[in-house]
Amino acid sequence: MDLKIGERFVMETGSSDFSKTPRRLGEPAPAHRWPHRPGQALIALPKADAAKRTNIELFDAIVQRTSVRAYSDEPLSLEDLAYLLFCTQGIIKPIFFHTDTTHRTAPSAGARHPLETVLYVRRVAGLAPGLYRYDPYEHALLAEPFNQNGFEEKWAAGMASNRFEKNAAVSFVWAAVPERVTWHHAQRGYRNLFVEAGHLGQNLYLAAQSIGCGACTLNVFEDAILNELCGLDGYKTFAVYAACVGKLSNERETK
Ligand SMILES: Cc1cc2nc3c(=O)[nH]c(=O)nc-3n(C[C@H](O)[C@H](O)[C@H](O)COP(=O)(O)O)c2cc1C
Repeated sequence: MDLKIGERFVMETGSSDFSKTPRRLGEPAPAHRWPHRPGQALIALPKADAAKRTNIELFDAIVQRTSVRAYSDEPLSLEDLAYLLFCTQGIIKPIFFHTDTTHRTAPSAGARHPLETVLYVRRVAGLAPGLYRYDPYEHALLAEPFNQNGFEEKWAAGMASNRFEKNAAVSFVWAAVPERVTWHHAQRGYRNLFVEAGHLGQNLYLAAQSIGCGACTLNVFEDAILNELCGLDGYKTFAVYAACVGKLSNERETK
């Protein structure tokens, strides 16, 4: 049978026999946390509930959810950003302190939490435009190396046909760290990376809506460009899903 790569992926990851996973063979679990770069400063974020201003009913938020591709020039507040980050990847409580296993606002198979958040910030009050990572353990941002020269053009190339993204106040890139899932579920774990990104996306849609923002999740992007800009090597860490967010605008949407 001449199977295409997608078909092979589904077929070859079809078993849930985990008797020979690295975990079962006694290999140590990979780190749950992304390492900080030497000397990298932490930018503390406000508590997530500081932005909880609207009391939209969950049912209404679900019914009204839609992809928003037009944004106003108004910046997000740091409280808004902190809220969105917490609602997507925030830690509610530790499960095991000694292993950094956590219970978060989105589910994760085996509590492996294989996704990390990289942000491209254009308009967030109190933050210099640039690239950041979210550290959910500290509920803080880490500024990433950023060279403004030509960055916007390169980023637009990474965003492929999603031209509206250039008007977003902040864009999220969810990066996968596959060793966290292959340790637990071997190659089948790769499925979790994409499934779990969907959870974060839906949480972002609903959370954005509850603070007067609009969001659109993105899967149309150029992996190689986006990975390079986000400091991801493209296989041990790579972008699986993205999203852009901005304050709501009255303008008609153009794709
Ligand atoms: C996995 C996924 C990838 C998507 N990628 C893009 C994208 O790259 N560009 C875009 O404009 N919209 C993207 N969207 C948004 C969809 O186009 C949108 O959900 C769809 O048109 C239905 O509209 P609604 O979200 O308002 O219901 C994506 C949505 C999902 C779930």
